[in-house]
Order: sequence, then structure tokens, then C-alpha cells
Amino acid sequence: MKIRKAVFPVAGLGTRVLPATKAMPKEMLTIVDKPLIQYVVDEAKEAGIEHFVFVTGRNKGVIEDHFDRMYELDATLSARGKKAEMEILARDQPEAGAISFTRQQAPLGLGHAVWCARDIVGDEPFAVVLPDELVLHTPGCLAQMIEAASKLAAKSNLIAVEAVPDELTHQYGICGVGKRNGRVFEVDGMVEKPAKGTAPSNLSITGRYILQPEIFRILETQERGAGGEIQLTDAMIGLSKTQKFYGVEFEGERHDCGSKAGFLRANIAFGMVRPELREGLRAEMKKYSAH
Ligand code: G1P
Repeated sequence: MKIRKAVFPVAGLGTRVLPATKAMPKEMLTIVDKPLIQYVVDEAKEAGIEHFVFVTGRNKGVIEDHFDRMYELDATLSARGKKAEMEILARDQPEAGAISFTRQQAPLGLGHAVWCARDIVGDEPFAVVLPDELVLHTPGCLAQMIEAASKLAAKSNLIAVEAVPDELTHQYGICGVGKRNGRVFEVDGMVEKPAKGTAPSNLSITGRYILQPEIFRILETQERGAGGEIQLTDAMIGLSKTQKFYGVEFEGERHDCGSKAGFLRANIAFGMVRPELREGLRAEMKKYSAH
């Protein structure tokens, strides 16, 4: 199963980290020195994705600018001989034609956002990557999923999952666990944001999916679910009646950067793996943890 395209839903309002996200998209929040959106695009590139599809919304134009060339900046860096900086910009620049933007005109939910990408994705399996969740690991989460998919039948769907404490299951999509083969298992039921005490397991759906294009037909008529939104999980439940779903317990630490605590933790975690920052950061943390 070749996965060429990844969909990045970036229309969300980012209400959990206001006021930072009042005028700036949450996907542009910076972990160390890169915006969240660049981390997930890099993860997708590493996994072999060739086309990047963004489902944007109002006030998200700066995401398009981030992936565009800035001639004035290039010219200034060049005139000043700033080679390293020029290389960083060139590295992050997607190839012409390898990036598409479409717009979700109303905040109707994740399922609706993915449906907005149907014509750009077409009739092929594709990945969905939620930019507010970062996984610190090499190979990345999506690469691990694509590797798992290569060992499964052609029309399989995969979701990345991670165990969460029982008292937090109501915040996520949760899946039941069927037959297991190492880190990969057959999904036995899914539920979006189960009421406390009703979750089928503690394995939460993380923001990485590999889906078959038949999901679009289901999304087209999907009714509103949890939170009054059109939920991707509900459409996946529909598709699971005719196609297999597998959970992948990926290797690596997941960071929910759409929450304040997760965002701070991600900055520390991603800072600590940067050799030029590690020692200074450790010393600072020692100082502050004594408070
Ligand atoms: C979405 C999905 C949910 C998943 C979560 C992961 O929820 O609907 O199944 O567990 O992302 O972050 P949201 O966080 O958009 O409410």
C-alpha cells in the first residue's frame, strides 16, 4: 500500500492556548525553533509522503506563507553571507506543486475537515496527521505506521494509539483491542470521547491515521456526534463494518502541544535532544525545579 498524500487539518481555533492563538494559528506555535506544522510535515516527508494537503480556515494564511519562498529574506540572507540560515529555509521548502490548500468554511469537526480534502486526495489511501500532537522518535510515528501497513492486506486502515490514564479516556477517541501481533492489533470497536467509566480500553487514538478513500463516502452523510461535531471516529466506525482497522502502538513519546502543559513539556523534550541546547537547558531546569 503506497501512501503518497497526507492531510493536515489546520482549521481548529486553538482555544486551549488562548490568548497565544487569538491572532496566530496554533499550528505556528514554536517548539524550540520550528513551528508545530513544520515538525509534522517533516515527519510525513520522512515517511515518504509526496503531497501535503492542508485544510485551513479563517486566519490561517500565515501557514501558507510559511511554506512559500520569501524572496526578500532570501536576498538579505544571501547578501549577508548567512549560509546556514539559507540552508534551513531551503530544507523546509516543499517542492513546487507538492502542497495544496483547501478551506473548511465552518468549524464542523475533524470528520468534516478531512472530508473537505476529498477531491485533492482522490481515490487512494492517505494519511491524516494532526499537527498539535508531536511524537519524539526516529523513525517517526507515521513511518512506523506505513511500515506496519506494508505487512497488512491492501484495504486496511490504521490508527496510532497510546495508553492514557483511565481518568483521561473521556478526552479522546478510544479503541477496543482484538487479535494482537506485537505492537499491531485488530481494532475491536471505537468510541469518541466515551463517558467516564465506559471506555473499552485505555488506548487512545493519537493524531495519526492511514485511511482508505471509502471513508469520504461515509463522511459525506456522517451525522454530528460528540461535542455536536462531525467526528472522524464515527465515520471510522462506519467504515469498520466493511474494512479492517488496526491499532499501532507506536514507539516514542507523544506530546499534546495544544495544551499548555504539553506545549511546555514538548519544548523541554525537543530542546533536550538538541546537542547545542542540552547542557544549558539542564542547568536552567535544575535552577527552576528548586523553586
Ligand atoms: C481528536 C480525535 C480523537 C483523538 C484526538 C487526539 O479529538 O477526534 O479521537 O483521540 O484528536 O488528539 P480532538 O482533540 O480534536 O477533540
